[in-house]
Amino acid sequence: MKIAVIYASVGGTTRECAELLKKDLKTHTVELFDLSKSEPDLSEYDTLVIGFPIRMGKAIKRARGFIKKHADELISYRVAYYICCGFVDCFEEYAVKVIPRALYESAIAISCLGGSLEPSRFKGLDRLVVKAVRAEILGGGENGEQRGDMSLPTVMDENISQFADKIKGVE
Ligand SMILES: Cc1cc2nc3c(=O)[nH]c(=O)nc-3n(C[C@H](O)[C@H](O)[C@H](O)COP(=O)(O)O)c2cc1C
Repeated sequence: MKIAVIYASVGGTTRECAELLKKDLKTHTVELFDLSKSEPDLSEYDTLVIGFPIRMGKAIKRARGFIKKHADELISYRVAYYICCGFVDCFEEYAVKVIPRALYESAIAISCLGGSLEPSRFKGLDRLVVKAVRAEILGGGENGEQRGDMSLPTVMDENISQFADKIKGVE
């Protein structure tokens, strides 16, 4: 299989997931495309993987633009989508909202591969947002209350390996 992993990333987590996925798909030809640098010629691939982070409840703009531009073509490909986010429990809600319905229904896999709220990965306003969310989760927020129902997100190796199996078609 010839696979293009097409991703957008600000803090580097979605990129890291693309690299880990490539390792799990090592028996196939996998090429990575960072949408801030280049886009593949889709016709050269039989399987596409599209990865993006969530910001303010939406897919990052660059990824939204790519999906919109290629929506008609994507429907005829084997496409798997992955999402990186801070609130991994909200993943299903994000996926339904962000991936157009026809593409959602024709996808071979849609998974959350985790996320990071590590402030040093971000700059400026982004860093402040991440620090505030992190403080609330860790209990240092406005009211200093512990959020026993939440924990900081991480990259989820198990999800990456299950996602890779779906792409390989072994599941
Ligand atoms: C400005 C900003 C807004 C964010 N908004 C959300 C959000 O609405 N929901 C969520 O689950 N995570 C949110 N996050 C967390 C990111 O999705 C998470 O940090 C992700 O790992 C980023 O991926 P990246 O490092 O590839 O950019 C936000 C992060 C930033 C910096």
